[in-house]
Order: sequence, then C-alpha cells, then structure tokens
Amino acid sequence: MSSVLRKPVRLGLTPSDIHTNTDLRLHNTLSLPAKAEFFATFHSVPELLSILRWTEQHELPLRILGGGSNVLMRPLVSGVVLRSGMRAIQPLNNDGSHCWVAVDAGVNWHDWVVASRTWGFGLENLALIPGTVGASPIQNIGAYGVEVADCIEHVEGIQRSTQQWHRWSANDCRFGYRDSLFKHELADDVIITRVVFRLSKHFQPTLSYGPLQSLQEQHDLTPEQLVDAICRIRRSKLPDPASIPNAGSFFKNPLVSNQVAQSLLQQYPTMPVYWQPNNQAKLAAGWLIEQVGWRGRGLSHAKMHDQQALVLTTDGNASLADVEALQVAVQGAVMSQFSVTLEPEPQYFG
Ligand code: FAD
Ligand code: EPU
Repeated sequence: MSSVLRKPVRLGLTPSDIHTNTDLRLHNTLSLPAKAEFFATFHSVPELLSILRWTEQHELPLRILGGGSNVLMRPLVSGVVLRSGMRAIQPLNNDGSHCWVAVDAGVNWHDWVVASRTWGFGLENLALIPGTVGASPIQNIGAYGVEVADCIEHVEGIQRSTQQWHRWSANDCRFGYRDSLFKHELADDVIITRVVFRLSKHFQPTLSYGPLQSLQEQHDLTPEQLVDAICRIRRSKLPDPASIPNAGSFFKNPLVSNQVAQSLLQQYPTMPVYWQPNNQAKLAAGWLIEQVGWRGRGLSHAKMHDQQALVLTTDGNASLADVEALQVAVQGAVMSQFSVTLEPEPQYFG
C-alpha cells in the first residue's frame, strides 16, 4: 500500500472529518498510549458509506470506537478508527403501554438514560455507565439487576462483509451476560448506526440488588430518585475515569457449575454466589481478587482499585504491557487458590 494512496484527501471529505496519526490516549478511559493511522467521524449515513468505500478500495482495516471505556488499546492502530457523530433521538411509535424510540449510536449513554424518561421507563438502573448508545448492545451492558437487552427492540447497522444495511431483532442479537452476537460471528463486522428501544409507559422499578432493596419501602419512588440513587452507589464504588483511568470491571464475574460453586462454598462459606438458571452459578470476581490479596495492590503503573478490587486502574502512564502483567498476575493468583478462570471484560482494539 503506497502512502500516497492513504492521503485523507482521497476520501473526498473535508479535513475536519478525517485526521491522520491521531493520539488515542484521550479516546480510551485506561489512558493507554496509542496512535491511529486515520481517525474519522461520520455525521450521516452517506458520509459513513463514503468512508467505507474508500476503506475497501484501499484495503485498509477499520474499527469503530465509541467512548473507549471498554477497550484495551494497542499502541498502533493501523487503518481507520471510525466514530459516530450521529446524535439524533427519534420517537417512532406508541401503543399506550410502550413507546419505541430510535437513538443514534453517537449519543452518550447516560444522556440517553436521563432523556429516556420523556417517553418511558426501564433504563434507570443503567444510569452513569460510560460510553455510547452504539456500544451498549455489544456486551449487553448491565448493572443493578437490569441489562440493556431488556429494553432493546432491535439494532440497526451496516454489515461490512455483505455491504448491506441490516436490522437485528433482540432475539437475533443472542444477548447473554456481557455477551452478544456482535462479539462472536459478527465481531468487527458491524457498524451499529442506531438502536431502537422499547420503553414501558409504567414505571416498574427493579430494586432487587442489595443496596437498592431499602427503596422497596418507598411507595412514591420516582424514576429521578432511582437514577440519583444509582449514581450515588456508583460514585461511592467506581472511580471516575476522568481522574483515575480505568475501564470499569476488568474481569467478568465467572460462571461455574452449581457443583463447583457448592464445593467452593464448603471451603469458603462467606463467598458471594448468584445462582443462575441451567445449573450455573455466578461468582463475584471482586471478592475472589480481594481474597487473594490483590485489592489495592498493583504492579508498575497499574493497580486493582482499593474500593472495588474488580476495577483495574492506571496512574495515566501505564503501557498495555503494564496492564497485561497485572492481569496475568491476578488471574494466576485466583486460579491457584480457587481453580477459577477470570476472563477480561474489555476487548483488544487495533
Ligand atoms: P468502546 O469502549 O469504545 O467500544 C467497546 C466495543 O464496542 C469495541 O469492540 C468497539 O469496537 C465496539 N463498538 C463501539 N461502538 C460501536 C458501534 N457503533 N458499532 C459496532 N461496534 C461498536 N459496563 C457494563 O456493562 N456495566 C457497568 O456497570 C459498567 N460500568 C463501567 C464503569 C466505568 C467507570 C467504566 C470506565 C466502564 C464501565 N462499563 C460498564 C464498561 C463500558 O462502559 C461499557 O462496555 C460501554 O458500553 C462501552 O461503551 P463505549 O462507547 O465506551 O465503547
Ligand atoms: N466484592 C468484594 N470485594 C471487592 C469487590 C466486590 O468482596 O473488592 C463483593 C461485594 O461485596 C459483593 C460482590 O463482590 O458481594 C459483588 O460486588 P458489586 O455489587 O460491587 O458488583 P460486581 O460484581 O463487582 C458487577 C458488574 C458491574 C456492575 C455492578 C452492579 C460485572 C463484571 N461487573 O460488579 O459492571 O456495575 O455489578 O450491577 O458483571 C462493568 O461491567 O464494567 C461494571 C462495572
């Protein structure tokens, strides 16, 4: 590939739409040092299509980035890093019990949660999760007893391998715990352009999660009060990436068989266990990490957070290798004491 071919002017876009050799440190919440060969933002579907055509013509790799709050950025991202600058929210339909609203991928997730109450309810427990609407189906974001899958009608986007616009129903998306079709068969093949949500017209709060149970007594609880309570809980445990770089939970909570969970409980009777359908049990990775002594401990520029051992933080000067070294050390300690595998939640980017 000649470097001449890679000049952004060939995209036929204005210079403000595409940048070369872009610093990605501010585009990932772990603040890992990285550069993108090209960095483009699309503001309309035609603009997206023209970037895709140019990328295909020149056989460049392409990856789409949201807020960078769930990625492990590699130091050099070759080809095009694409971002959605589309930010419309459009109510579509209303049947008295539900309202359907289409939200562009580039909308900030928390802004959408706050705005959603204009049309309906269901997203309150997902307040303050960083990132964009477009990324929310990728790992089926979840918190405090709710997953985004509960409110998704369908996902719209462009499938690069077929060059077709496509609509995936919630069923097609095969949502699971921190999982979807977009992490498997369709990994890196889909550019989600918007998500259609189905919101309930009746506020039926989910208050099963421990610290929320006290709100069950409050019969006049409003959606605003629930959002405020969620924000308070999150701020007390989770570091703000603006001051302490992190990507939220660094590992998923491991799913094991009932039998494994029972046998661990015999040895560790205080271990938290969340019993699941299909003979499975979810363990609390934060608890496991704390037990093996990594809470508040680190290596080089990376550390497991003092208030929440599941959150890996950096001091802003960590390299990807520093993060990986800590990941391996923590995984090894948990494996050797509990024989449980911890799988990272953030995905490699680049
Ligand atoms: P990015 O990190 O930019 O991207 C994540 C992945 O999605 C990448 O593979 C990317 O290629 C892909 N992607 C992004 N946009 C698109 C698109 N338009 N089309 C196709 N693919 C796309 N997660 C939870 O589930 N629950 C939590 O409670 C939670 N708390 C967090 C707290 C903190 C402090 C932090 C830093 C993170 C937390 N997270 C949580 C993780 C993260 O916020 C979510 O995974 C979020 O959805 C990532 O959004 P993003 O826009 O930053 O995606
Ligand atoms: N715990 C410890 N020590 C710790 C951390 C946790 O003992 O250092 C114990 C807690 O006492 C509790 C249990 O572990 O008994 C679970 O902790 P918590 O309620 O804080 O939730 P979590 O399992 O650590 C998960 C999600 C979060 C989500 C919260 C709230 C995963 C991987 N993480 O965390 O999601 O916000 O529940 O629902 O499922 C994310 O995905 O990035 C994320 C932040």
